[in-house]
Amino acid sequence: MSEINIAVVPVAGMGTRLLPATKSQPKEMLPVGRKPVVQYVVEELDRVGVNRLLFVTGQGKHSIENHFDLNPDLTQMLREDGKEDLLAELSFIRAPMQYFYTRQRQLLGLGHAILCAEAFVGNQPFVAALGDSIIGMNAKSRIVERMMKCYADNDADAIIAFEEVPAEETYRYGIADPKSDTDIFEMNDLVEKPQVSEAPSNLAIAARYVLSPKIFEALKATKPGVGDEIQLTDAIRLLLKNSGKVYGVRLKKEEKRYDIGNFSSYFQAFTEFALADEHVGPELRTYLKKLLNEDHS
Ligand code: UTP
Repeated sequence: MSEINIAVVPVAGMGTRLLPATKSQPKEMLPVGRKPVVQYVVEELDRVGVNRLLFVTGQGKHSIENHFDLNPDLTQMLREDGKEDLLAELSFIRAPMQYFYTRQRQLLGLGHAILCAEAFVGNQPFVAALGDSIIGMNAKSRIVERMMKCYADNDADAIIAFEEVPAEETYRYGIADPKSDTDIFEMNDLVEKPQVSEAPSNLAIAARYVLSPKIFEALKATKPGVGDEIQLTDAIRLLLKNSGKVYGVRLKKEEKRYDIGNFSSYFQAFTEFALADEHVGPELRTYLKKLLNEDHS
């Protein structure tokens, strides 16, 4: 089995839950700590050997392209001013990554966004990583590497990352019906947003997938589901129904998923990353403690 080195990163969504912040800027470009969300996603993929990356973009997403482009004027100015530390902050643009872009011209859901990658991906397995989710503090997760290995070891059709969520929150997620209670497990089925009493587990789909090109036929055969969108989960269920082999890989405790899709989780992510910041974290911690103490008085 050849190595998987391509990834598809859908970033076309409107981010309506983050309005007005996302009115004229992509939610994937919102900062978490020092970097925009999507930079963490690219750095995570770079670390596990991805070297060709397709962004599925949409209207108003040009700042993503600009962010990963070279910026000679800026680098020259920083060099002339001897600002080596700031230049180092831009080293991510020199990662050995080739960027590609395509537009999802109609926002018909995540499944449809993945389908837009078919011509690019061709007949090979690939990683799909949601552009609005960071895995692990400062994206220091190698979940995708474990997923790639699981894909190869089992000659699988799809691998999905899962995080444990509190049992009472399962109604918000796509939930695994696993065959075994292990870190890597084969899937019986997936259940979309089950009632708490009906959830087969507390394992929620967590923004990373390794997919065989069979997914494209499954997506084409998938009718619009929730929200009139073509759901990736439905297409993976179709693979399962047709005797496909689908596995789940659990995130480790230290590989928490930071979903930037709503204000509550965005604020939490920003706070955690800011507190973990080497330079300003300690000062912020003192400040927050003081603020919270004042609040109690
Ligand atoms: P979400 O469903 O969380 O994003 O998709 P959204 O549609 O932007 O959210 P709201 O509900 O309007 O706030 C997760 C990821 O999939 C991408 C999004 O850009 C996001 O990174 N996505 C979603 C697409 O690329 N295309 C779509 O049609 C939907």
